[in-house]
Amino acid sequence: MKKGTSLLLTLLMLWGLDASAEAPQKDYERARWDPIHFPPAVHEATNEQCLACHQEILSAKPRQVSPAGVKAVDTLAWYQTLDTYEGAQESFHWRHLESPLAKKVMNLDCVFCHQGNDPREEAPVPPTAEPAGFNLRKAVDPSTTCLRCHGGNNYQVMGLPGPWPESRALMQDSCVLCHAGIRTNRHKVSYLNAAAIEEAGKTSSDTCYGCHGGRQWYRINYPYPRNPWPGMAKDVPEWAKDRATESDEPYRLKEAKK
Ligand code: HEC
Ligand code: HEC
Ligand code: HEC
Ligand code: HEC
Ligand code: HEC
Repeated sequence: MKKGTSLLLTLLMLWGLDASAEAPQKDYERARWDPIHFPPAVHEATNEQCLACHQEILSAKPRQVSPAGVKAVDTLAWYQTLDTYEGAQESFHWRHLESPLAKKVMNLDCVFCHQGNDPREEAPVPPTAEPAGFNLRKAVDPSTTCLRCHGGNNYQVMGLPGPWPESRALMQDSCVLCHAGIRTNRHKVSYLNAAAIEEAGKTSSDTCYGCHGGRQWYRINYPYPRNPWPGMAKDVPEWAKDRATESDEPYRLKEAKK
């Protein structure tokens, strides 16, 4: 590199430092391997700390037209036709952090999904199809994150005559019809806004079903904990024998504890 160029670069870096005191000034490799990406630091990180380097996460826009020529506005999924869906097609991150619905019913942090990995051991040796506690490059484990809100609707254990789209009319389009008295001790976790969810569930089942089968990306159901509720039968049904009886630490809210 010529001397003149490196002097210019140094000046640019100094300006950079001055201009944004918040954003950590590091070279690419140091930033990429910043300890904030890995446990234990990742568990304590705030959205602001992550966004200092990853602002594009909130500003990135999806394509208006797919490479094959299909317009985003012409292909609507079921949930995109509901009142709960607002705005145009947006990025995955925006839908979970910034959309009006997301801000109302949930409270997700970067590190709820990005739980970090061990950079020295990214994959189990020998390879296995069983869950081995390893997260690959993107470091998001769907079974402890996405599946909570994108699993199937366990209508079989609910005693419903069929899947929700078939039984919703019979149930007056309401989940609360039954759930005003069953499994009432719900959503008392830091990443959900329990009160706002109940409020939305009063008028329509769409908000509830949205997270419990409506946006089902997996063929399996999430094994929800069975937090005890008033009037709960003493006998545990066969299907629920291995269920937790409390929401997961560290998300469990204090009020939920008995
Ligand atoms: C000091 C700047 C900096 C901070 C702070 C930072 N990152 Fe990064 N991160 C980077 C860089 C640089 C990369 C590499 C990007 C690439 O290769 O495209 C990266 C990569 C990533 C990746 C992709 C992983 C991969 O290997 O492809 C994820 C996910 C990520 N960061 C999440 C986070 C989260 C969550 C936080 C907060 C806990 C965070 N980052 C904080 C700079 C930072
Ligand atoms: C709902 C779970 C979830 C939340 C919350 C979340 N992420 Fe992600 N993030 C993901 C997934 C899944 C991917 C992988 C996407 C892919 O492969 O394209 C990802 C990818 C990334 C990447 C890699 C670049 C890319 O676009 O693929 C970065 C950087 C990142 N996230 C940073 C963040 C930051 C910063 C926050 C908080 C402001 C955040 N994420 C919140 C799930 C999440
Ligand atoms: C706490 C609940 C929750 C978790 C965890 C969660 N999601 Fe979502 N997801 C939602 C909600 C609510 C919406 C609808 C947001 C809206 O309509 O504005 C949504 C929407 C989506 C969409 C549709 C986006 C669009 O533009 O139409 C995709 C895809 C998605 N989630 C994938 C994932 C993946 C992958 C993960 C795990 C990395 C994940 N979600 C984790 C609740 C969640
Ligand atoms: C006919 C009454 C009834 C209706 C209507 C109903 N449920 Fe349920 N639901 C139940 C019963 C009964 C259980 C199981 C109670 C137990 O744990 O013993 C249950 C369990 C659940 C569970 C936990 C499942 C598990 O695997 O632990 C979720 C989540 C749930 N219901 C959501 C909903 C949603 C969302 C709707 C509306 C789309 C709905 N329910 C409508 C009766 C109902
Ligand atoms: C933003 C996504 C989201 C929405 C909206 C939502 N749920 Fe949930 N629900 C969850 C998650 C995640 C859990 C598991 C929480 C935990 O681990 O304690 C859950 C748990 C439950 C459980 C099991 C509670 C227990 O501990 O026994 C029931 C029943 C339930 N939800 C019913 C409903 C009903 C009824 C509505 C509408 C009023 C609704 N959900 C709306 C995400 C959602």
